[in-house]
Amino acid sequence: MIVCLCHRVSDRDIRRSVESGVRNFEILQDETRVASACACCLDCAREVFDEALMKAGCAGRCEGACASSCASACGKACTGVVVRATAQVFGA
Ligand code: FES
Repeated sequence: MIVCLCHRVSDRDIRRSVESGVRNFEILQDETRVASACACCLDCAREVFDEALMKAGCAGRCEGACASSCASACGKACTGVVVRATAQVFGA
């Protein structure tokens, strides 16, 4: 499904970015340009991104201390700061 019509970014593109190690929405935006024009897709893009983070085992609670305190054991080096607690989105 296309999430961002302005830049033709699909849910698959977002999941692929997370699988490759992106853990920060702003970095996702830098890579894909999602939600960087009209921003109508912002909520949907964040939902897909957060869901992909959860699947990747990233709890999103590190608040910038990923390298030293992440307990998700995803095996990937974080590429940035996760600024939202994904658990809030999914009620975990
Ligand atoms: S639909 Fe994504 S920026 Fe416009």
